[in-house]
Amino acid sequence: MSNIHPKTSPIYQTSVFAFEDLNALETYFSEPGQSYMYTRYGNPNTDELAGKINALEQGVGAVVTSSGMSAILAAALAICKAGDHILCAEEIYGGSSALLSQELTRIGIEVTYVPMEEIYDLRQHVRPETKMLLAETMSNPLIQVLDVERLANAAKQQGIKLVIDNTFATPVLTQPLLLGADLVIHSITKYISGHSDVTAGVVVCSTESDLQRVLKVMMTYGLNLSPFEGWLAARGLKTLRLRMKQHSSNALTIANYLQQHPKVEKVWYPGLEEHPQHELAKTQGRGAFGGMLSFRIKDEAEAVNRFMRALKNIPFAPSLAGVDSSISYPAGTSHRSLSNELREKQGITAGVIRFSVGIEEAEELIADLEQALAEV
Ligand SMILES: Cc1ncc(COP(=O)(O)O)c(C=O)c1O
Repeated sequence: MSNIHPKTSPIYQTSVFAFEDLNALETYFSEPGQSYMYTRYGNPNTDELAGKINALEQGVGAVVTSSGMSAILAAALAICKAGDHILCAEEIYGGSSALLSQELTRIGIEVTYVPMEEIYDLRQHVRPETKMLLAETMSNPLIQVLDVERLANAAKQQGIKLVIDNTFATPVLTQPLLLGADLVIHSITKYISGHSDVTAGVVVCSTESDLQRVLKVMMTYGLNLSPFEGWLAARGLKTLRLRMKQHSSNALTIANYLQQHPKVEKVWYPGLEEHPQHELAKTQGRGAFGGMLSFRIKDEAEAVNRFMRALKNIPFAPSLAGVDSSISYPAGTSHRSLSNELREKQGITAGVIRFSVGIEEAEELIADLEQALAEV
């Protein structure tokens, strides 16, 4: 059977690997990466996925995990212990802030949220026990763009690690490690896999010591990804570049359309010249702005309901970044766990809708939006 050379990797759907004898077991320990023992420690499918994402992000190595949340957890536990302190950008995915303030605080790790206007000057927030800053390249849901290089310099000055959630931008637009970040995480669930059929995450490291820590946390806490999901995500990843081009071009067309619509009060998209970080986004994203935008209609839940019900081909599905478009409602889903006060402060009001623009024909999407906005 040695003449079988599949073009696509087979799926190693096994929890364990057999050894020929004790010598083979010794080789497993003395020559890491040459053979496999137990899927929780490593599997060819998850290693293939990790290797491909690492190459795109240009790290020293990557560890894939069971979800984006477990990737953030692995990064935080790799760096911090009880008594340490984490800084986190105030505008961040609600699940990330819930993990930090509701769970990590229970095991003695403290967290402080840094307002976006103070994010490049960390002095007033850093303590002797501060170990890391968590921030998103493009924030969720209002798509603020952070200057990763400037942030990396600020973090270095304070002697803390910068962990960047690059889920919205993807390495096609921005490679945070090349701009000075220490670790990059992704919810692979989103653009990396791209087809809304996988839940997975990844931590990409810039140093061997961080990589070994993240690996240890992944193995010991059992945060590993399943072989089949690793295989599916690696398949999706093959079209990432193509997809990002189409997502970005569609989103720009739709942002322009929404902006001139009388029923739309505001549009957040970094590709629009009015966006406060438009120039930064253009340089940092190599001229592309991604597929995520948010817009506000009348600040009433019932207006949003009428709009959602009227859409024919764009479902309300509280996730993002699939090839098919979908809308979400940050105030009721991703940012539900925030206090009303914080949501209002961030501008996530009752009429804000997040639009994950897919790779369909832009005209078809606009036709659907047009008839649904008429119902508002
Ligand atoms: C920016 C961002 N980071 C992390 C996550 C968490 O990822 P997952 O749902 O794969 O655990 C999400 C989920 O929506 C996200 O939007």
